[in-house]
Amino acid sequence: MIIAPSLLSADFSRLQNEIEEVEGFGATWLHVDVMDGHFVPNLTIGPVVVNSIRSKTRSTLDCHLMVKEPEKMIPWFLRAGADVITFHLEAVERVPELLRMIRQSGKKAGISIKPATPAAMLEPYLSELDLVLVMSVEPGFGGQGFMPESLEKVKWLSEMKKAKGLSFLIEIDGGINAVTAKACKDAGVEVFVAGSAIFGAKDRKKAWDELKAVIS
Ligand code: DX5
Ligand code: ZN
Repeated sequence: MIIAPSLLSADFSRLQNEIEEVEGFGATWLHVDVMDGHFVPNLTIGPVVVNSIRSKTRSTLDCHLMVKEPEKMIPWFLRAGADVITFHLEAVERVPELLRMIRQSGKKAGISIKPATPAAMLEPYLSELDLVLVMSVEPGFGGQGFMPESLEKVKWLSEMKKAKGLSFLIEIDGGINAVTAKACKDAGVEVFVAGSAIFGAKDRKKAWDELKAVIS
């Protein structure tokens, strides 16, 4: 089980300290939310920042591209040092081509689906995926409430994974904390993104430990 702290809720003016703090708790993944102001109504981190982060950490940089034109931007993030690149199914037409682009660079490829997108739309691609990211809030902002409907998608993915002997990781993103994570774990989630629950906590170490205890 992996916790991927979402840097979106970190203090961007002291990003290196924020990263070192969660790595001190045991984080080995960092979730990087890339928003372009078009696919979602918010603008966040670009490849320049990912490149700077890369020079300061060996953690897995889990880049979640909430962008309208991932085909244009994937090469930027590959060059910047991303380890996992996840794009949105709703944003692209040539899915296999993009998966190949990422995997041929030796990096892990993921697809994310928004709350309104059925998981079954991923079926043709499951064997080519390293990760599926189920959004449990509308993408765009941290600190929103968890949508329990997303659990049905996780269950379906988990069943498909078992039935077909596949190896993609199931990641959940949005509203995850020590309360909501339990049902996610039971449904089959393996990677838990948590932004405000960790970086927004008064006692971050306690928040990490509580989340860790629930998913272990
Ligand atoms: C939302 C982002 C999330 C966000 C999660 O669009 O994809 O990664 O940082 O934040 P919390 O954990 O606060 O819901
Ligand atoms: Zn995200």
